[in-house]
Amino acid sequence: MKLTDAFGREITYLRLSVTDRCDYRCVYCMAEDMVFLPRAQVLSLEESIEICQAFTELGVKKIRVTGGEPLVRNSIGTLFEQVGNIEALDELTLTTNGSRLSKFAPQLAQAGVKRINVSLDTLDAEQFTELTRFGKINDVLQGIRDAQAAGIERIKLNAVILRHRNLDQVIALVDYAVANNLDISFIEEMPLGQVTEHGRETEFCSSAELRELIATRYTLQPSDHQTGGPSRYWSINGSDSRIGFISPHSDNFCSSCNRVRVTAEGKLLLCLGNEDSVDLKAIIRRYPGDRELLKQKIVDAMSHKPEKHHFYQDDAPQIVRFMNTTGG
Ligand code: 5AD
Ligand code: SF4
Repeated sequence: MKLTDAFGREITYLRLSVTDRCDYRCVYCMAEDMVFLPRAQVLSLEESIEICQAFTELGVKKIRVTGGEPLVRNSIGTLFEQVGNIEALDELTLTTNGSRLSKFAPQLAQAGVKRINVSLDTLDAEQFTELTRFGKINDVLQGIRDAQAAGIERIKLNAVILRHRNLDQVIALVDYAVANNLDISFIEEMPLGQVTEHGRETEFCSSAELRELIATRYTLQPSDHQTGGPSRYWSINGSDSRIGFISPHSDNFCSSCNRVRVTAEGKLLLCLGNEDSVDLKAIIRRYPGDRELLKQKIVDAMSHKPEKHHFYQDDAPQIVRFMNTTGG
């Protein structure tokens, strides 16, 4: 069995959210007073692992663990260890805010995690605390060093740039990436969840604008590097670092979309910009251990994968869920 949708796209990549909780409250991601899911509504680690097993038996080769912040989940090391042991899986990765990376880096490396994404929007300590509402930048910078020391081979920074907050940090972030052998992707802010701090439109910085800004300091060469994601990459002369730009507002990457998402609640989401979902948790809890049935439900769900996302309809942003329930 393989996962192919109605538009002939083969699904080989699963993004699995293991919690909607986070120790930060980034202003573009969460409201200050978030209400999180009751524990019983979140997949147990065993259920999450079962879902990973089912997807890999259906041809999924890459799994990215996301949150919220995945490393705040209790006993998360067990999941990495067990999913890392699945023969058919080529790549197990993680997106993290880095706050607990120092603690988990050796365990992650041990489980076979080779590449991770770390969110970092600024190098200014004060601004970092403002943007995350809680964070201490030194935890993250130390986490990155410890991850490199533990043998994680490639680290990519993810930065969301808001015009009136951290636009002045773009060059500093690229300098830091180049100096430390990291890749960096700039992500356009997506209209996910109702945030209070800022108007999404006045803060929006397009990928094209950021690229032009970086080009005033660095010579960027278009790179054919592809990670199977929506990033477009550029390389810098004399450096291994790659500079990526993720433009969710353009839908030109939808035609090659190879991914689906499972939320912390066990909902299979066919597209980030769309509410269509299938409740895998309900199936697992009603028919525990019936992996064939679970696989069949996943296969059936593929016919609902939409052709492209609809973040904007008639030019008005469609607010769907907060990012922390799906992990991006
Ligand atoms: N738009 C774009 N990126 C976002 N992230 C969180 N919320 C948003 C949003 N509304 C990013 C974080 C992190 C990744 C998981 O998603 O910065 O890097
Ligand atoms: Fe937490 Fe990541 Fe959301 Fe920031 S962007 S609040 S680190 S989940």
